Amino acid sequence: MIKVTIDDIQIEVEDGTTIMNAARKVGGKIVPPAMCYYSSLKGSGGKCRACLVKVAQGSAKDPRPMPKLVASCVTLAQDGMVVQNITSPDVLEMRKGIVEMLLVNHPLDCPICDQAGECDLQNFAFDHGLQRTRSEFPRREFDIIDIGPHIKLHMTRCILCYRCTMVADQLTEERVHGILWRGEASEISTYIQKAVENDFSGNMIDVCPVGALTDRHFRFRNRVWYLNPMNAHRDCKTCSGKVVLWMRGEEIYRVTGRKDEYGEVKDFICNECRWDCYNLGDWIVEGPREMEKWSVITANKYSDETVELPDELYSKLDNEKWNEFEGVT
Ligand code: SF4
Ligand code: SF4
Ligand code: FES
Repeated sequence: MIKVTIDDIQIEVEDGTTIMNAARKVGGKIVPPAMCYYSSLKGSGGKCRACLVKVAQGSAKDPRPMPKLVASCVTLAQDGMVVQNITSPDVLEMRKGIVEMLLVNHPLDCPICDQAGECDLQNFAFDHGLQRTRSEFPRREFDIIDIGPHIKLHMTRCILCYRCTMVADQLTEERVHGILWRGEASEISTYIQKAVENDFSGNMIDVCPVGALTDRHFRFRNRVWYLNPMNAHRDCKTCSGKVVLWMRGEEIYRVTGRKDEYGEVKDFICNECRWDCYNLGDWIVEGPREMEKWSVITANKYSDETVELPDELYSKLDNEKWNEFEGVT
């Protein structure tokens, strides 16, 4: 075991643990945001830079600070390491820049985007971004295409996190899509728009942190905050059968995997559970799914409880965000 200090909190973790996972052991505000790391996908991380942190002391043996901010999802913690995340002004300043970079080519689609309300980029931009853009250049444009019978690709919203390619590599028999070209020209493509059809392809939608890959059966049918997420399971030969049913009344609008507190699915589900079981009789419903109280998905639900926003959100709304907003209008 090794000892590492993150934002003044010391913890013991196993040797070989990344800084991100060490922070997740503590939980709460000190956990760096992640747009590309996904704990259940091997080799994920190191693409988006959202999780950069400052290493103020490299290790007990070599206490020199690291010269640059490092990606916490792919950097191993060392014994005696001292890490700064939310206690470092440099890190917070850098995150503003990362949001700005991710949004340089991103469309203003939130009002019509199916990911709205459960979008990692929305949350990341709200927590760390600015209210306005400095970019005056035209954004990249792509046609919206169907990749197979179930999935729609909006390349304009893709942040090139590579998670969907890892799902294809690690969960399906054959990967028929990937990232073409380099730099600003990079794009997700099935090359000749070959259909993505295999038992686990739907998980690409769940892992996509933005609305680049959306469910063709759910698109524009409802907003997530009008639906009631219910834990349910069925006896499935292909996957765990443990899902979330997104319901309105008795009607099932969509079926997804169960995401943990970091928005990551641990038990991936098969396409049969996701798209062939829209009857309530197909499922054993366990009950309402617990969501974070501050999530827009809890709006108008659980009305007997007071929904409280976390303190940091209030303070941001009161100060920085609100002033900035007023400055714009
Ligand atoms: S992907 Fe997220 S940030 Fe982008 S348009 Fe959709 S909801 Fe908005
Ligand atoms: S389509 Fe989604 S999951 Fe795939 S690389 Fe783009 S943002 Fe990531
Ligand atoms: S989450 Fe670490 S680089 Fe993306």
